[in-house]
Amino acid sequence: MTTALTLSGSIRQGSYNRLLQQHVGRKLEETGVTVNAIELGDFAMPIFNEDLEPDEVPEAAAQLAALWRSHDIIFIASPEYNGGVPPLLVNTITWLSRQKPSVFRHAVFGIGGVSSGKYGTIFSLSHLRDSLSKVGALVVPTLLGIGPAEEVLDERGNPTEPAIIRKVEQIVHELTHFSRG
Ligand SMILES: Cc1cc2nc3c(=O)[nH]c(=O)nc-3n(C[C@H](O)[C@H](O)[C@H](O)COP(=O)(O)O)c2cc1C
Repeated sequence: MTTALTLSGSIRQGSYNRLLQQHVGRKLEETGVTVNAIELGDFAMPIFNEDLEPDEVPEAAAQLAALWRSHDIIFIASPEYNGGVPPLLVNTITWLSRQKPSVFRHAVFGIGGVSSGKYGTIFSLSHLRDSLSKVGALVVPTLLGIGPAEEVLDERGNPTEPAIIRKVEQIVHELTHFSRG
């Protein structure tokens, strides 16, 4: 049985990226994947600082690391802040990068994002791909950048544009067909 962990780099109420997380989760379930949708708000961690190691590493980092190591697929929906990856996600990845064994070398990763702008998070997704690849993650090729949110998603977060619908199908196909073996 294939398992997927989904998460969003935005924990605000009404987050478009949470809607994308849920949408991709539904699409993965349609292919028979068992989906575990988590909220980063449930894994509170202080801003990373090497002085906190080793005595004050948050328990949430170990809990999240165990989840990242135990799923076959990880899908991350990320907003774009100032052309980059939002601090919540950077902080999370930083803490996880310090966990041993690596949390990045088991699952196949998919990344996507929704923004209020027309470039649809492509700048932040590019940074996120680089960062994840640097630490050993296998990120599938589709760049699922979506925006402007108000114009291309319905109220449930389902894409309304054929090009975006196709990209979601493509990333779900990649995620379910690539394996780290
Ligand atoms: C600090 C900050 C920086 C932002 N920078 C960008 C940006 O660089 N590009 C962009 O398209 N949208 C930017 N936005 C707008 C976000 O796309 C928008 O708030 C989006 O809804 C955030 O995702 P969420 O709905 O999942 O929280 C920014 C928003 C904030 C709060």
